Amino acid sequence: MSFPPDREDVTASVIGLGYVGSCLAATLADRGLRVFGVDVNELLVEEIAGGGSPVQEPGLTDLLAQGTASGRLTVGTDYARTAESDVVIVAVGTPVHGRGELADTQVRGACEELSRHLRPGQLVIVKSTLPPGTMRRLVAPLLEKGGLRCGTDIGLAFCPERLSQGTALAELRSLPVVVSGITPRDAERAERFWRRALGVETIPCSSLETAEVVKLANNWWIDHNIALANELGKFCSAVGVDVMEVIGATNSAPKGGGNINVLLPGVGVGGSCLTKDPWMVWRTAREHGLDLRSVTTAREINDGMPGYTARLILEEIAKAGKRPDQARVAILGLAFKNDTGDVRSTPTAPVVAALADAGAEVVLYDPLVDPAEAEKTFRTGLAPTAEAAAEGADCLAILAWHREFADLSFADLRTRVSDRCVVVDGRAHFPRSTVESLTGLGFAFRGIGR
Ligand SMILES: NC(=O)c1ccc[n+]([C@@H]2O[C@H](COP(=O)([O-])OP(=O)(O)OC[C@H]3O[C@@H](n4cnc5c(N)ncnc54)[C@H](O)[C@@H]3O)[C@@H](O)[C@H]2O)c1
Repeated sequence: MSFPPDREDVTASVIGLGYVGSCLAATLADRGLRVFGVDVNELLVEEIAGGGSPVQEPGLTDLLAQGTASGRLTVGTDYARTAESDVVIVAVGTPVHGRGELADTQVRGACEELSRHLRPGQLVIVKSTLPPGTMRRLVAPLLEKGGLRCGTDIGLAFCPERLSQGTALAELRSLPVVVSGITPRDAERAERFWRRALGVETIPCSSLETAEVVKLANNWWIDHNIALANELGKFCSAVGVDVMEVIGATNSAPKGGGNINVLLPGVGVGGSCLTKDPWMVWRTAREHGLDLRSVTTAREINDGMPGYTARLILEEIAKAGKRPDQARVAILGLAFKNDTGDVRSTPTAPVVAALADAGAEVVLYDPLVDPAEAEKTFRTGLAPTAEAAAEGADCLAILAWHREFADLSFADLRTRVSDRCVVVDGRAHFPRSTVESLTGLGFAFRGIGR
């Protein structure tokens, strides 16, 4: 049988149209593939079919709309049409309970339903993040429930997704895809598919488990590196130097195959991946009798940053001679990450809660966050504009920096805020020149590690 990725008209289904699935489905359709997207969430499916986007990602709404308008991208809730595809990609959510126990309902649901529609010759590629061993122990047996054998009747590959929200669409077309298969032949099929479908490099791994660990190692490294940056920030504050200057100079030194690459400190780590993937590592390690302390330490440091940021804001308010219960704090940027509207596990929520607990009036603004999501997460509505949020504020706390904020006029905001207003940079965003112009306008300034 000639395997489909060798044909020009290869077709794909994408199961799970959340962040990863919708970005991937839209990109594959844009690259010329016929794509069927399936999700159990009817509202989400209707939204995409109607020209909208279920998530805020720069460029995604247009790409999805182009895909549906061209007819190359169709979406639905019924798995039956996955049988028409050469390749079926699974991108459902893999949250964890507590400290790293996989909440496998979505994976189970997707694999069981898919097993009813698989046909010989198809290649199933799982993108969802999984603890090592899950592909072999859980996914393969579930897919085989329909009677077809993985590795013989159908192909099975694990190719973890490593994109970052905010830059997802560009990364899908540039990041090398890590590839593994239940057999070497399935891994090769998956490699051919990604090279053809996305035009990217592939990184072959010798086993499914290796690729499962690679994905976790990526996020373990990021979480750990951010924890280092956060402690470096606290250290720089204590000894009176600017962490951005320190990191800039530190990162000029070569090490290994590249340079030292200390990331930036900030208000904390959120989103659906960095907060759970290190715990998947920790839990799997424990099941093997290993206690991985770097995971718990990094998680603890990063989880402590919202409280640290709230204290820093309250300290600056006290310096201006105000009690917290007399203060008004405008938070600009609520998402867990710059340039996204995602408030899942956002570290800004505990900052808002801590300020409110201290008695401060907190006003929220984020141009990318869906107002209904904001209401659910923060139990309060959004100001209509940054200018409205800033009225009478004693503190402008920038806790996520979006491209839209580049148009903010701090000279204009200065006329709206209170006399002794402090700008708090919770994302280590402002270069020294901006800090100087802010202080020139009469703002006080504070940043993490600055
Ligand atoms: N969000 C990211 O930045 C990111 C990056 C890399 C990897 N990942 C990983 O990719 C996976 C997906 O993440 P996400 O952020 O897109 O999740 P998500 O929660 O945004 O989307 C998951 C989607 O799957 C759907 N779904 C659940 N059960 C289903 C079923 N049985 N059949 C069909 N659809 C079903 C849900 O309705 C939802 O729309 C996770 O394993 C995550 O860890 C996420």
